[in-house]
Amino acid sequence: MLTHEAQRQRERILELLEHEGGVTEESVRRVHKETGVPEADIWGTGMFYTLINKPGRRVRICDGLTCQMAGADQLSADLEAKGLPCERVSCLAQCDRAPATLDEDLELVTYHGKETGVTPDDPGLPMNLGGPVDESYSSFARAKELGAEAVIEILKESGLQGRGGAGFPAHFKWSSVLAQAEAERYVICNADEGEPGTFKDREILLRQPTKMLEGLAIAAQAIGAKDIYIYIRGEFTNERRSLEKAIEIAKEKIAPIKIHVALGHGAYICGEETALIEALEGKRGMPRLKPPYPTEKGFRNKPTLMHNVETACCIPAIVDRGGEWFKKLGKTEAGSKLYCISGHVNRPGVYELPLGASLDELVDAAGGYEGNPQAFSPGGASSGFLPMTYRDLPLDYKNLADAGSMLGSAGVVVLNDSVDMAEAVKWQLIFFERESCGQCAPCRIGTRYLRRQVDQYVQLGDTAPLTYAEDVAWEMEEGSICGLGMVAAKPLESAQKHFPDAFKVR
Ligand SMILES: Cc1cc2nc3c(=O)[nH]c(=O)nc-3n(C[C@H](O)[C@H](O)[C@H](O)COP(=O)(O)O)c2cc1C
Ligand code: SF4
Repeated sequence: MLTHEAQRQRERILELLEHEGGVTEESVRRVHKETGVPEADIWGTGMFYTLINKPGRRVRICDGLTCQMAGADQLSADLEAKGLPCERVSCLAQCDRAPATLDEDLELVTYHGKETGVTPDDPGLPMNLGGPVDESYSSFARAKELGAEAVIEILKESGLQGRGGAGFPAHFKWSSVLAQAEAERYVICNADEGEPGTFKDREILLRQPTKMLEGLAIAAQAIGAKDIYIYIRGEFTNERRSLEKAIEIAKEKIAPIKIHVALGHGAYICGEETALIEALEGKRGMPRLKPPYPTEKGFRNKPTLMHNVETACCIPAIVDRGGEWFKKLGKTEAGSKLYCISGHVNRPGVYELPLGASLDELVDAAGGYEGNPQAFSPGGASSGFLPMTYRDLPLDYKNLADAGSMLGSAGVVVLNDSVDMAEAVKWQLIFFERESCGQCAPCRIGTRYLRRQVDQYVQLGDTAPLTYAEDVAWEMEEGSICGLGMVAAKPLESAQKHFPDAFKVR
């Protein structure tokens, strides 16, 4: 067990390595001198993170499904030909601007792309991305007046489910933290968005960061936390600027509650709540075994309430207008939802619709289909693929789970009939292989195996490499510690089920 001081020093090592420009013998030595953490430990931790494991500046081109469909390979070849060193990276959360590219300073570059959109201003929407920014913090004041129990009761009435993917009822987590004997508690906001197809939190950070901060402050007030940590992915340069501006105003309004911003260093797995906590504590972002859950033993081993950006952003309106009002906004489940839509549609973007809207309704908001649609991925890479016979299915937690898929992060990607489904599966498998933290064998070996076998099938047109795919998928689902390994075979399983013709001998 580290002493309090040693733990605080350890928490600094990733930020220090980032300032140093990455992991080198010299940088590791300097960080060791400043923190006292052993050099080998600093080296091993730093090498886990793609933004610091290789010093040097280069252009980053996204490898995600939508970017691949939009010609990421060609763009990469063109830039290399011009003498620009490029690195292919996992999802940059810019699927509406595919193929997404960051320059050497992690600034977004738009080489080509379509018109993008968000829902226009509508004061009846809880998040209302297109609306004005309210910096009054009046919902926070109201929540203070109401007190913790009343606020949690409103939250319960609202039916708000966590928007980070699992859809867990928010009020349960608040009550669980409140019930802990330990007085030192934390609120963490998960802004590490990075699942292919997903870019909704990005729009909140750019357009309505104040609503998110107010929601987090209401949560901190209710559960008795003095500190809020926001873990924002390191590639979100503009989003961080927007967030920091909003924090300047928030600071006075919510004092004495403090807000801390921590940068991610390029590892998708740190979106998983316990991996995120490990990263905040200055360690490799490897998920912990649960239980204990973060609500009992989280950051610094203290009770921790973690919410996704969107979950936090819903809270001020719920406190203001009541749980019943929020609940009724949904079509099949409670509330409104930010759906991301990209791929073969005319106006990709983020649209706030009743929870339970169908694909056709979402694509209507996004200006219609581009070409003849054959498939869609309803909730990020983890949700696999569904055929167009599901175009009227409510996109909610229950209906998608019943269909063998999931709403997840609501990162919807449409694929028209120009796409080879086996190739699309390969792109999703590349993502999971690269982002597996490597801690458990079924996930570490299984993600590599499946990607290689599908690769062979695409190249040779022979089905023999896929013979054991089902068995490996079962091992992964049963033997993985966290959600990544459990669902990483989903793109292949679902495509084989719904698009059998794409996996015949060619
Ligand atoms: C592999 C993996 C990646 C995840 N990535 C994110 C993420 O980027 N953002 C997020 O909010 N939740 C992510 N989650 C879910 C979190 O573990 C956690 O459930 C969530 O942050 C809780 O917030 P909520 O209750 O508001 O949904 C991820 C989960 C897994 C298994
Ligand atoms: S399932 Fe994969 S990502 Fe999750 S802990 Fe195991 S190796 Fe890491």
